[in-house]
Amino acid sequence: MYQLCPSILSADFNRLGEQIKILENEGVQWLHIDVMDGDFVPSISFGMPVIKSIRKESKMFFDVHLMVTEPERYIQDFVNCGADSITVHAEACEDLERTIERIKDAGVKVGVSIKPATPVNDISHMLGDVDMVLVMTVQPGFGGQKYMDECTEKIQELRELIDKENLDVNIEVDGGINEGTLETVMKAGANIFVAGSWVFGGDIAENVRHIQKEIEE
Ligand code: DX5
Ligand code: ZN
Repeated sequence: MYQLCPSILSADFNRLGEQIKILENEGVQWLHIDVMDGDFVPSISFGMPVIKSIRKESKMFFDVHLMVTEPERYIQDFVNCGADSITVHAEACEDLERTIERIKDAGVKVGVSIKPATPVNDISHMLGDVDMVLVMTVQPGFGGQKYMDECTEKIQELRELIDKENLDVNIEVDGGINEGTLETVMKAGANIFVAGSWVFGGDIAENVRHIQKEIEE
């Protein structure tokens, strides 16, 4: 299953609902929602009230990416405001195993994310416990950065591990995904493609149609 997963971090927040509608009308099923706390990453984005508002209008799959220190504190809050999946950073959790269990107990899908410098080895023992691994292909914190080539190998390594164990785990890539890098990450084995500036820069509907076509080919 391949999915384009637009990141609303690059949306025009003055027209957020409208822009999400455009995505839905183009058949996009996943929506990437970047929450930043100004501690795990330098920037602050948005939180529960925004997610709650867009949940009222959208049936999309809400893929919530928590760039937050000790995300365990907020699991129930994000479930309550409409997350379908919660991804936490391996580097942000005091007890990653427990955090993952808590997310599962809360009844939503669970993902674990690793920053560019974190080796696959740090999370490979948990592949049987998660629905998704999010490989950051830029330093988390901002949209519009350049894809870090050294991350491609990590995607390949994960794909091999997942296939070898015959696991049903998505590999999501996030950061710098565009015309020039989509093919690389697809070939490496990723199947969920987050894109912020590529989707929201210019004509959203046209961008989505173009990207969907590239993914299908
Ligand atoms: C960065 C966020 C990304 C970001 C991607 O920390 O996790 O989701 O929005 O933006 P682009 O696609 O512009 O690199
Ligand atoms: Zn993200």
